[in-house]
Amino acid sequence: MNRRIQAIPSSLTLTIAARAAAMREKGEDVVSLSAGEPDYDTPQPVKDAAIKAIREGQTKYTASAGMPSLRRAIAEKLLNDNGLTYDHTSVIVSVGAKQCLYNLIYCLLDEGDDALIPAPYWLSTPEMVKLAGGRPVFVPCPEEDGYPLKVDALRKAWTPKSRILVINSPCNPTGAVYSWDDLVEIGTFALEKDLCVISDEIYEKMVYDNKRHVSILNAVPELRDSCALVGGFSKTWAMTGWRVGYAAGPRAVIDACDRFQSHATSNTATPSQHAALAALAVDDEFTGRMVKEFDRRRRTCMDRIRKIPGLSAAEPHGAFYVMLRTDRLYGKSAGGKKVTDSLSFCERLLDMEKVAAVPGAAFGSDRHVRISYATGMGAIEKAFDRIERFVKGME
Ligand SMILES: Cc1ncc(COP(=O)(O)O)c(C=O)c1O
Repeated sequence: MNRRIQAIPSSLTLTIAARAAAMREKGEDVVSLSAGEPDYDTPQPVKDAAIKAIREGQTKYTASAGMPSLRRAIAEKLLNDNGLTYDHTSVIVSVGAKQCLYNLIYCLLDEGDDALIPAPYWLSTPEMVKLAGGRPVFVPCPEEDGYPLKVDALRKAWTPKSRILVINSPCNPTGAVYSWDDLVEIGTFALEKDLCVISDEIYEKMVYDNKRHVSILNAVPELRDSCALVGGFSKTWAMTGWRVGYAAGPRAVIDACDRFQSHATSNTATPSQHAALAALAVDDEFTGRMVKEFDRRRRTCMDRIRKIPGLSAAEPHGAFYVMLRTDRLYGKSAGGKKVTDSLSFCERLLDMEKVAAVPGAAFGSDRHVRISYATGMGAIEKAFDRIERFVKGME
């Protein structure tokens, strides 16, 4: 195997997921707070559009970059929703936002280049950078203020080899929603240092507390020639399994992604593209209802966390995760075994209380455990009853 794949560790999250799955198979009542996907079903008109497409024989290849009708509809969405003007030839449709990010990172980085990544980060980002031959350089975002990315931290982390900056607001796993002012400073710094910015905005619709999602391209329009925006259908329309995402950016960059994608995967499944086209025509009511419910669950999570001594969390304002601060409990024992880090915390919690969560180490913070509230209120309440018992039982 080549050096690049050997540098990619096996996923920490898999350890927990595999153990949880084995317990479930044995009939144990495992409650999972590890989901990275909405628990809502895909809207019916979206499903119907895919079924219709299949019935009508829309089952062949499309252009690698996606159906022109879908690329046009995405360009229209970017104009109407985000106030950004793109020709459809500057939009590419890929196998989820994940492939868009991988395409972009691969096409923009050269061997030995540095990629600036705010930390905590989405766990695939640094691995994509390594697969592309680059080096992830982390930019710490302080928990105390809700994990904002500050330009001073960016300046400190910058090296002469820094080539790209990958931002993700609203952020998985922290729930941070970057402010207009911070984005102006970040974008201005990127221009000054000639950095290409990749802006992962997949959680754009999941914002709470009257926060507003701002695209860095709205804050600093001059970045247009050096910034690519990534979005998708997985979260907004509960379509994780359909595998559709998009990137918009400078034509040359999108063309490069298309060349790469055309040799790697070709187009996203054709029926899924028809589904995505239908999703863009679904009114906002579906997502609005889901986000309102996520907000209710988010507030329940925060209320429960505040009542458990030894735990805390910075209030998340976006996405559907909470970074639970667990390090004050490290050194204590649970069921006779020491908890020393985020992995052992999650392992003990799963073994003793059958609650699955993701170790923060996977996201660059061993002081935390990530929980997702994209699961039913009943499961959330049950999980917190168990977490409370687990923490209170630690000695
Ligand atoms: C921050 C972030 N970016 C990108 C993705 C990828 O999403 P998709 O399902 O569109 O590939 C995810 C999925 O969890 C995510 O959390």
